[in-house]
Amino acid sequence: MNLSYRNLKLITCGTFAVMLVAGFTSCGKKDVNSPGFEFMPDMYRSPSLEYYGTHIINGDTLNSSKLPVAGTIARGFIPYVYPNTPDGYTSAGLYLKNPLDYTEAIEKEGEVLYGKYCVHCHGATGGGDGKVGAKLPGPPPAYNVALKDLPQGKIFHSITYGKGTMGAHQSLLTQEERWKLVYYVQKLQGPKTVAVDSTAKVAAATPTVEPAKH
Ligand code: HEC
Repeated sequence: MNLSYRNLKLITCGTFAVMLVAGFTSCGKKDVNSPGFEFMPDMYRSPSLEYYGTHIINGDTLNSSKLPVAGTIARGFIPYVYPNTPDGYTSAGLYLKNPLDYTEAIEKEGEVLYGKYCVHCHGATGGGDGKVGAKLPGPPPAYNVALKDLPQGKIFHSITYGKGTMGAHQSLLTQEERWKLVYYVQKLQGPKTVAVDSTAKVAAATPTVEPAKH
């Protein structure tokens, strides 16, 4: 009885000693980046897909980012039909009209967007004197001088695709936001010097340069 009790004590002490030694040695590991012992590695390392990666899972090849099916568009998305070409620019200037009805509130929203996306190049009054604009090889022309008579369609087209050193904004701003900006740019242009042609609407219905269908 006594003997087995002593044995039990010995075993218990021995186990504690081993645990202590293991505890201390595991803390003293050299590799600081080592995650240590992983009890259930699957819980840490799930077979997640990396962005833009190609993965083979159970014999199937999976691309984690897929292109939309050809010929389809996202729900609610309206494709912009005028291509990024000189012809597309001309056509946009002739036929493209602002789909938003003008209100002061919309113009005000355009002003807010202008303060976030344009003012650093074009300047507060659109004079082309923004701090970033001044550092460009050629500063942006003033809206109320060289760009005074730029039609709304061209304004929209250039915001969409960019022009010269100005980058494209179609991935930064929705079409609606770009149209709001058009109203604000038009405000900065001031009154037009060229009388607005009352036949413009008729011309819009009979385009001579067909916009590309895509
Ligand atoms: C990086 C500076 C920069 C930013 C940001 C920028 N622009 Fe421009 N923008 C320019 C320059 C430079 C030009 C002149 C391009 C040319 O004619 O070569 C220009 C031209 C334009 C034109 C005239 C385009 C034409 O068809 O002649 C419009 C309109 C315009 N910008 C509006 C905007 C609006 C609205 C924003 C904000 C969404 C904006 N820009 C942001 C630099 C910038």
